[in-house]
Amino acid sequence: MSLTADSNTSPLRVLFVCLGNICRSPLAEVVVKEAAQQRGIAELFHFESAGTGSWHIGLGADQRSAAKALQHGLNLNQHAAQQITHDNISDWDILVAMDADNRQNLLAMGAKDEQILMMRMFEQQGAAADVPDPYYGAHDGFEDVYQMLRLNADALLVHLQDSRS
Ligand code: 4NP
Repeated sequence: MSLTADSNTSPLRVLFVCLGNICRSPLAEVVVKEAAQQRGIAELFHFESAGTGSWHIGLGADQRSAAKALQHGLNLNQHAAQQITHDNISDWDILVAMDADNRQNLLAMGAKDEQILMMRMFEQQGAAADVPDPYYGAHDGFEDVYQMLRLNADALLVHLQDSRS
């Protein structure tokens, strides 16, 4: 399947989506970006992240996510939270939802079903599990999130690469 008319020349625009855009999706953005760099395919993609909610627009990443990124050699210092809405959804070729609620919210905004991937869809056959929201949980939750993102990053990239051709 070709996702965009000019998908062989311009970077595929991929948006990681969670609720607040301060915990999960910013971490997903840098984890997958780094995996793409390691595979030498970073120039094929334009990655950003956004939240379905508006509470944190313009703010930096949650300190626990920023610390987790740093612990794994990644950097979230430049992050500024943004919101995905009906008005900017068509800017994106692919939306990668962290959980089923994010997916439902994206569909309600007018995203097309085929535009949405689930972050954990590469772990096993069948319905993809959620990347659980770590915001109100313990510190361990952020390591769990990181491991889930890392576990799916390479397969996501293969999928995205295949979808360009
Ligand atoms: P995120 O986590 O969706 O992974 O960024 C959350 C951040 C903030 C809130 C909820 C989840 N909040 O309710 O403010």
